[in-house]
Amino acid sequence: MSRKAMVTGGAGFIGSHLVDLLVDQGWELLVVDDLSSGRLEYIASARRRGKVGVLVEDIRAPELSAAAARFDPEVVFHLAAQSKVRPSVEDPLKDASINVLGTVNVLQAAVRSGARRVVFASSGGAIYGGGARLPATERTAKRPESPYGITKKIVEDYFRWFKETYGLDYVLLAMANIYGPRQDPGLEGGVTAIFAKAMLEGRRPTIFGDGTQTRDYVFVEDTADAYLRAADRGRGVLLNIGSGRETSVLQLYEMLARITGFPYRPEFTAPKPGDIGRSVVDPGRAKKVLGWQAWTPLEEGLRRTVEWYRGGARG
Ligand SMILES: NC(=O)c1ccc[n+]([C@@H]2O[C@H](COP(=O)([O-])OP(=O)(O)OC[C@H]3O[C@@H](n4cnc5c(N)ncnc54)[C@H](O)[C@@H]3O)[C@@H](O)[C@H]2O)c1
Repeated sequence: MSRKAMVTGGAGFIGSHLVDLLVDQGWELLVVDDLSSGRLEYIASARRRGKVGVLVEDIRAPELSAAAARFDPEVVFHLAAQSKVRPSVEDPLKDASINVLGTVNVLQAAVRSGARRVVFASSGGAIYGGGARLPATERTAKRPESPYGITKKIVEDYFRWFKETYGLDYVLLAMANIYGPRQDPGLEGGVTAIFAKAMLEGRRPTIFGDGTQTRDYVFVEDTADAYLRAADRGRGVLLNIGSGRETSVLQLYEMLARITGFPYRPEFTAPKPGDIGRSVVDPGRAKKVLGWQAWTPLEEGLRRTVEWYRGGARG
């Protein structure tokens, strides 16, 4: 009999790659997504290949528990979220409503459906804050600098409480900067997606600040692999999902310019307020607990991302 999982946010960037991987591994899935930023076309091929039900619903809906109970999942992968920093600053109430209350509703649905564990999408880039000693380990003090980061931090106590009270196990994956096919290249999207798309369209990308700010980039398929492993390993634990390496925005620009054959220099403009200077996480614990590491070299992941945008950015 195939294993069953509910995947919230399964039509999104990271969620749809997880859906692909789980289907390839023979899992039966229920995707819960309100399609606010996700797209059904990203899971169209998974739906043709495997058993994937889709519930177009808000994770805050009271009906979630009943739907989950009918499906009877063994694992819940919870990725649905207001997933960006800027909107959380503009509307912290909406952000908290989706990311905190929505998460509590998902935890409740997990308990009521008899699920064994929840694997949660936390953020290594947002929970530790800019003042942290780098690379940030899971023991680094958390001082999130945005409402988005705050929600990812405070739900940890709910996970602990649900485990202590109902025995619901969990793994929190504190992901660094994830990049790859299907990432939103809009204004609030990932820098990789924005640069790649602009370069392919012959437009000069804009760098905020001097480009020396660093991030820790992980290819999205490696990330999906971390979720799959977390279905069976790790108990009540926070794990950083990063490469442990810092790449500056300028280095990223140069790599993408090489891959796309883009000959021009970037435009520079004032730094974004609240943009942290350096960000990198130590993935040592994920290696120990999950046997996971960021397998794909940055250059190769960028090549595959550019290929996807070249191909018309479909599916
Ligand atoms: N992309 C990254 O680098 C990164 C890094 C750290 C953490 N994360 C987290 O990973 C998760 C996935 O992020 P992503 O980059 O794939 O973003 P995404 O926006 O593509 O995915 C989020 C998905 O959740 C859905 N969704 C949003 N609000 C919902 C609601 N109220 N009810 C039901 N569905 C809803 C969206 O339609 C979308 O499909 C998020 O929790 C995000 O905070 C992402």
